[in-house]
Amino acid sequence: MIITIASFKGGVGKTTTAIHLCQYFATRKPKKKVVLADGDPNRTAIDWAESSQFDLPFTVQDAAETLPIYNTLIVDTPARTNPEELIQLIETSTLVIIPTKVDIFDVRATLALADTLRPNPNKYRILLTGLPRGKKLYEAARSLFTEQGLQSFDGGIRQLAVYRDAAYEGIPVSRYSEAGKDAMTDYEKIGSQILKGWKNG
Ligand SMILES: Nc1ncnc2c1ncn2[C@@H]1O[C@H](COP(=O)(O)OP(=O)(O)O)[C@@H](O)[C@H]1O
Ligand SMILES: [Mg+2]
Repeated sequence: MIITIASFKGGVGKTTTAIHLCQYFATRKPKKKVVLADGDPNRTAIDWAESSQFDLPFTVQDAAETLPIYNTLIVDTPARTNPEELIQLIETSTLVIIPTKVDIFDVRATLALADTLRPNPNKYRILLTGLPRGKKLYEAARSLFTEQGLQSFDGGIRQLAVYRDAAYEGIPVSRYSEAGKDAMTDYEKIGSQILKGWKNG
């Protein structure tokens, strides 16, 4: 299975999503080889892994280098995928995940891609990130996507300080603290939707 994380804006949680979905799959299926391929020239995921104080259960490497044999490959991309690149990613991936903050500008940036996404309903999911307390913005964003015929994951990722704190130490949040374990349940719910929907991918 190849999962690509792409977005039309930076700072929406792509790299954080790549790391935590790798952590989820590697923990859930310890015998399977999980690889995070860093396609961002900023090498954010590689630098994160190199700074890690923790023995990661998955491999992080440069997407431009030869990949090891894998069961699950998660590809992190730089900001600002354009529509042509998105079509390519949809072709080469089992699933493209599009993290989008609940902020209205970010939601509109994703809505602008509706024509590219709509014909491929099983090849992508929008993932709402940076969720504040309360469901109001989450529900508003989801209904905008649904009105446009766009597919989004059920649930999303809360805005929580533990992501930044854990990133400093190169640790997935689930290994960082009790608050981190609670934060991780958001990614676990997304991971289990992926296992149900794309397990044969
Ligand atoms: N759910 C979240 N809650 C709080 N901070 C987050 C969350 N997800 C990511 N961050 C922080 O936001 C910043 C940008 O996230 P990152 O994953 O690097 O985004 P991108 O790869 O899209 O640029 C990082 O400092 C990261 O630790
Ligand atoms: Mg990134």
